[in-house]
Amino acid sequence: MENNASIKIVQGPDVGKVYNLTEFPVGIGSDLENFVQLPGNSISPYNLRIKRKGNLYILEDIETKHKCYINNKEVVNSILKSGDQITIGDFKLLFQAPFAVEIARSSLEHIPIHFDSEVSTDQKKTKFTKVSSHKRMSLSQQQVAILLNFLRDLIKTRSLASGAQLTCSVFKMIEPAIESAAVFLLEANSHRLVPVYSKKFSKSKTPIVIQEKGLSRAIALKRGVMCSRREAKTHSHSTFLPMAHGGAPILAFQCNSMNARDPSKSSQVFQEIVALAAPHFQTIILQSEWEELLLGVMETIVAMIEAKDAYTIGHSERVCLYAQVIAEELKLDLETTRILMISARFHDIGKVGIPDAILKKGILLNAEEFEEMKLHPVIGSGILSPLPLFEKIVPGIAHHHERWNGTGYPDGLSGEDIPFFARIIALADSYDAMISGRPYVGFMTAADAVKKLKNESELFDPHVFKAFLRAWDSGKITQRTDTIRKKTKPNEGRTS
Ligand SMILES: [Fe+2]
Repeated sequence: MENNASIKIVQGPDVGKVYNLTEFPVGIGSDLENFVQLPGNSISPYNLRIKRKGNLYILEDIETKHKCYINNKEVVNSILKSGDQITIGDFKLLFQAPFAVEIARSSLEHIPIHFDSEVSTDQKKTKFTKVSSHKRMSLSQQQVAILLNFLRDLIKTRSLASGAQLTCSVFKMIEPAIESAAVFLLEANSHRLVPVYSKKFSKSKTPIVIQEKGLSRAIALKRGVMCSRREAKTHSHSTFLPMAHGGAPILAFQCNSMNARDPSKSSQVFQEIVALAAPHFQTIILQSEWEELLLGVMETIVAMIEAKDAYTIGHSERVCLYAQVIAEELKLDLETTRILMISARFHDIGKVGIPDAILKKGILLNAEEFEEMKLHPVIGSGILSPLPLFEKIVPGIAHHHERWNGTGYPDGLSGEDIPFFARIIALADSYDAMISGRPYVGFMTAADAVKKLKNESELFDPHVFKAFLRAWDSGKITQRTDTIRKKTKPNEGRTS
């Protein structure tokens, strides 16, 4: 299957004829000069034209003597989408756009992969063959055991990267000759392939070369394809596997092996594994979309809270970024850092339950008001606790005002009894309160704030505090402060 746009006659003379559209504009009409020549009186000599602008296909009705319809709706100029049915005169034409994938290269920094269009491989010479599918696979007892364990472990995974990692590991168990693998998420709307996971099983330092054409071909065909290359004594082999759910591709896998015994057989098993795992991956994707939606709502709530007090505008974002700097110093992994950042971003969400009169108060709170304000960590955890998606972020929110020496609130926890994220947020929160000039702290320069924090170091986890000081000494904290200040200008709009 060529990856070109095409027109197929689905009604009228020559039904079934397919025109591969390689050069644009494409003329459609009864005159012989047209690339798509449709005979008969119901068609004008030069009736339609299809132009191409990048990935867009535009249909123009040149002569209006015979009206043109797309999906039964009359049009003059219209963008053509894959699957559109064009009706002119007695003919119905089916337009198919090529499957175009765009790799989101910008998000690749941490993944050691290269693309074949960036290295000197000749894509045109690569021949792809389909992975055959059998209704009944003959698996060894050992392979069945591997598969069952894989499915059991997969159900426990919540992130795409972990699921992809598990899947690639099982590929390796099935086919020990696998040298490397990479997994991409196919964004439904943009058709972009976003890297999710990659793994090199061998110790060689050469990068993983991603064959865009192979991935595109597999996704367009909705089944696995393979290609192989012989070089001297080696026989390298790549398998490209689309993972589809409900007929729609959601992920794509590339596995590269060297001198595999029976790559076709392994690829068949991979194809079955991908099909078995698809429903769970779909669940993970839906969960992450749901999480994004909820986070969006929570962003709005935090913005509303912060808008009530000029001193706190941008506070949560700054705390989140200081927490990220501390996480970098502590060398936390990406997923842990992500959860920490969400917790920090929404640490004050419970203020939504604090009366406006207290939030907006521009002077020191009295004892009664302060007691009311102290409820916000509990309110915040109460709001988010019912959502299983956020179970890991709640402890950071509930305890971000606890202090290492036990003098904080709401529970007066001390030392390592304080949840780890809460210890990081507490420090980031205190630093930002000092430099954003809150009435109860007074305005301080960043250097004065650090000096004050050093004098109060018994309030913070020493390990976290050391990480903060390392980041401060290397200029990362001030860099981050300056970046955010330019954006949010927290001290603007002070009332007094
Ligand atoms: Fe707070």
